[in-house]
Amino acid sequence: MYKIKTLISIADVIYESFVPEKYAVSSDDPSPDAIVVRSADMQSAELPEGLLAIARAGAGYNNVPVPRCSESGVAVFNTPGANANAVCEMVVGMLLLVNRNLLPALDWTLTLKGRGGAVPELVEKGKSNFVGNEIRGKRLGVQGLGAVGSLVANAAVALGMEVVGYDSLMSVESAWRLDRRIRSVSEDELVSTSDYLTLHIPLDAGNKGMINSQYLSKMKKGATILNFSRAGLAVSGDVKDALAAGKLRSYVVDFPTEEMLGVPGVVCIPHLASSTEESEDNCARMAAAQIADYLENGNVTNSVNLPACVMPRSGQSRIAVVHKNVPNTISAITNSCSSAGLNIANMVSNSRGELSYTMLDLDGQANEELRRAVGELMDIIRVRIVY
Ligand SMILES: NC(=O)c1ccc[n+]([C@@H]2O[C@H](COP(=O)([O-])OP(=O)(O)OC[C@H]3O[C@@H](n4cnc5c(N)ncnc54)[C@H](O)[C@@H]3O)[C@@H](O)[C@H]2O)c1
Repeated sequence: MYKIKTLISIADVIYESFVPEKYAVSSDDPSPDAIVVRSADMQSAELPEGLLAIARAGAGYNNVPVPRCSESGVAVFNTPGANANAVCEMVVGMLLLVNRNLLPALDWTLTLKGRGGAVPELVEKGKSNFVGNEIRGKRLGVQGLGAVGSLVANAAVALGMEVVGYDSLMSVESAWRLDRRIRSVSEDELVSTSDYLTLHIPLDAGNKGMINSQYLSKMKKGATILNFSRAGLAVSGDVKDALAAGKLRSYVVDFPTEEMLGVPGVVCIPHLASSTEESEDNCARMAAAQIADYLENGNVTNSVNLPACVMPRSGQSRIAVVHKNVPNTISAITNSCSSAGLNIANMVSNSRGELSYTMLDLDGQANEELRRAVGELMDIIRVRIVY
């Protein structure tokens, strides 16, 4: 029986993977095999002795002590893309709301309360102030064509927009997902020709403050930026200047800051893009499935510290080893198997930075003696017999 500890309420969908015949799930197990966490801060938490894995049901993992986990061979997983559809729907919704001036129009309509029978006539008189634009035929530039950006690009094509995209390092999976009507262009062409620019890129050192006066000066006059990625991608003062100068028509951001609240042309959303029941379920479902595959098969998918490593089961037993990425370690592991009289039916080894992960399927039963022998080799961090 595997023991799972859940920190903070996690959706019931985790039981699709954590079936009761194999898993005991509780919120207070002192020695779990794995922990599923949403936003609880684990940075200063002690890692239980036998802990094998932590899954963060969400994309960010700042609340998990990843370096400490790596040192003790604990796999850390996240759930990239699980909330992508929620974000995509919000981006498309805001694109439509902003272009039809619906936000001020709705506010204005409420001001008519109390005008009795005059309301219909006042509506007809006042509505001309809110004439909007259609998005069909307009150009949407998508910066970052990963999990979210590729969905947004496809949805915009379906709504009749002309879509161009730029990704500095697009994955093959993302490329396959894209509608073939989407054209890949240079960053300069994307920025200078788009009527609407939507950002779907991480806030890393290279992207911080990327939306600055230089970037804004290249944009088409009257364009709109949608930022559903992170506030820090933009230099607030430069965005405000561009709005005041009419260079930018509108800046829609899911991460309000004091200086952007109430600025004309800025639409601040209280970080709601991924807040849907479906997205929370998707994250929890994905986290649980990844943990179950790691515990039951040793397979690593969407880890943030171990390399991706998946191998179909073969042989009679499997051992999984987390070790340092240094020469001679793999040969030392295979020698230990030979010394134990076990033939290797299949093996896989991948590395990521300073860590490597090796799985060996053996034509015989791996036992505690072999586990100990491998564990005592140089540069081995953790060894597990995967039953
Ligand atoms: N508002 C929310 O609630 C919410 C929810 C999910 C994600 N996000 C944000 O959205 C971002 C994107 O999410 P995702 O799941 O699509 O990530 P992802 O990793 O699947 O895709 C990001 C893509 O951006 C590309 N990229 C990085 N820097 C770039 C640059 N300067 N120009 C062009 N392309 C660049 C990468 O190559 C990658 O393909 C996340 O980093 C996160 O900050 C926000």
